[in-house]
Amino acid sequence: MEIIRTVRGLHKAVADARSKNRSIGLVPTMGALHAGHMSLVGRSMKENGFTVVSVFVNPTQFNNPDDLRTYPRTEEADCRLLEAAGVDVAFIPTVEEMYPEPDTRVFDLGPVAQVMEGAMRPGHFNGVAQVVSRLMVMASPDRAYFGEKDFQQIAVIRRMVEIEKLPVEIVDCPICREPDGLALSSRNVRLT
Ligand code: PAF
Repeated sequence: MEIIRTVRGLHKAVADARSKNRSIGLVPTMGALHAGHMSLVGRSMKENGFTVVSVFVNPTQFNNPDDLRTYPRTEEADCRLLEAAGVDVAFIPTVEEMYPEPDTRVFDLGPVAQVMEGAMRPGHFNGVAQVVSRLMVMASPDRAYFGEKDFQQIAVIRRMVEIEKLPVEIVDCPICREPDGLALSSRNVRLT
């Protein structure tokens, strides 16, 4: 597995894979990987010749600075898991690499982004649309994989892909749960 931290490096790896006629699967994550993420990774590896997993805690989707500060960051463990799974590229950019300039785009995500989590976390879904659209332009995947745990997020991403006319298939994957039924989530480490 190659760990890539620059957009230029990612372009090169993806171009190389394309020259070998491999389809590209992208699994966007914010790290702190668990079995839920790994199920997306497995699905991408089954359906594509080349899988890129991004690990990036995206500041533009946090409307609460404390939540951003305390979000679990476990890069070494994440890389070990991804390497063991046989992923081709772990893309782990810095904030400066992802956003050399502030992203001021405001997406018209429609009613789906205004209710439930959209109402509780103003700006959250716009930030998700910003980072996912960037990742899609950077990795130019054929398919991108998202968990149904964040069902509303998938709807928002589908809308962003439609607005931006991105040539990517959005693949939604079933929720993975703890034995007691709780949906796996990186933030579960905070639960007592
Ligand atoms: O679901 C997440 O982990 C994030 O919202 C995503 C899609 C990786 C964008 O930062």
